[in-house]
Amino acid sequence: MEQIQIIDAKDHVGEVVTIGAWVANKRSSGKIAFLQLRDGTAYFQGVVVKSEVAEEIFQTAKNLNQETSILVTGEIREDSRSKFGYEIGVQNIEVIGESHDYPITPKEHGTDFLMDHRHLWLRSSRQHAIMQIRNELIRASYEFFNKEGFVKIDPPILTGSAPEGTTDLFETNYFDQKAYLSQSGQLYMEAAAMAFGKVFSFGPTFRAEKSKTRRHLIEFWMLEPEMAFMHQEESLEVQEQYVAYLVQSVLDNCDYALHVLKRDRSVLEKYTQLPFPRITYDDAIKLLQENGFEDIEWGDDFGSPHETFIANSFDRPVFILNYPKAIKPFYMKPHPTREDLVICADMIAPEGYGEIIGGSERATDYEYLLEQIRAHGLDENEYSWYLDLRKYGSVPHSGFGLGLERTVTWLAGIEHVREAIPFPRLLNRIYP
Ligand code: 4AD
Ligand code: MG
Repeated sequence: MEQIQIIDAKDHVGEVVTIGAWVANKRSSGKIAFLQLRDGTAYFQGVVVKSEVAEEIFQTAKNLNQETSILVTGEIREDSRSKFGYEIGVQNIEVIGESHDYPITPKEHGTDFLMDHRHLWLRSSRQHAIMQIRNELIRASYEFFNKEGFVKIDPPILTGSAPEGTTDLFETNYFDQKAYLSQSGQLYMEAAAMAFGKVFSFGPTFRAEKSKTRRHLIEFWMLEPEMAFMHQEESLEVQEQYVAYLVQSVLDNCDYALHVLKRDRSVLEKYTQLPFPRITYDDAIKLLQENGFEDIEWGDDFGSPHETFIANSFDRPVFILNYPKAIKPFYMKPHPTREDLVICADMIAPEGYGEIIGGSERATDYEYLLEQIRAHGLDENEYSWYLDLRKYGSVPHSGFGLGLERTVTWLAGIEHVREAIPFPRLLNRIYP
């Protein structure tokens, strides 16, 4: 008997096959039992008809509990009533692992309860759909950057530098020295860009941020491209092409997940149209002030109501350009004519999902960078390797970081970033 996965059922119509699955749900009467089966690749229905199987098989089916694992054998048939399109007419069931009193029942559960049971909650169809979108974004990212000639480079996780400021660092002992968990691989990616031209990284990053919002994780995954001989305007084009590619890949390859999540495809389709609008920081402040935001003035960073208002003024992701130097990290290129600005951009997602990309052109001048490192209270000895990049053939270069979980949250159309990563690390939560 051939053992197959549910996702491949379409290639086996009319054949008798075996599938290893879990019982997600079950309905039965005296004559027929409907098993909702899942095997990690998809969900579909198993139909057990009392008059067509041995009595003990029908009794086994009737007694199956939620999340019992089974080997089920039967004939694959078309099932036009389900979105999946196929079902299995069950002939035999072999119980592999019993399950009793599975804690996550089809009724509603509170968030804390679900988070405490994250190791089991991952099995639900909604979480499964979200993880499929996450997986697609990772796959499509590698595809995009490989297609565009980028080299994948892996920066270290244990580092001695703090690119994004010293306030939210996780510190750890590194034998007799101090080390930090990486906030961003950027500085290493700049070194890599000087060696390979166009590079990208994908890895976990850590921020000890005391923010308890629906957009903040303590541990999140970032894609960080860095490009030598590239100014900011060209980098913005790479960014919008990349994000449009991600959206298109989800539309092309995650139809079922979008259906489970009730995410409207026509909303996502708008986000594949280029270019994305651009607005300067100066104009964004004006826009807010003209629309009744009295709590913000030039020099402030945007809070999430501000980002949402700006995003709602456009029908696609929007770039906010050139922020005040005082609220951005030390490495950004100064504006050529405005001393108080740096050459940078954040990409703000539509529908209130907030910033998904932060990026900039990088400062290339040795003396300027040294001055900035000192002005930010950083130890110049720890950055001497980084300063070397400006001593030996410094070139214009730009890069950016896309937050994977924020992007998943947006494209999946879900409420909270904690569902966009398998095991979220949150303020006050490191379990399970
Ligand atoms: O804007 P950020 O801090 O930029 C950097 O780290 C740069 N060094 C990247 C670079 O130029 N190579 O972070 C980049 C993105 C944000 O736009 C956001 O999507 C995500 O990372 N991000 C977070 N996601 C979840 N939880 C958090 N606490 C996040 N902080 C940033
Ligand atoms: Mg940022």
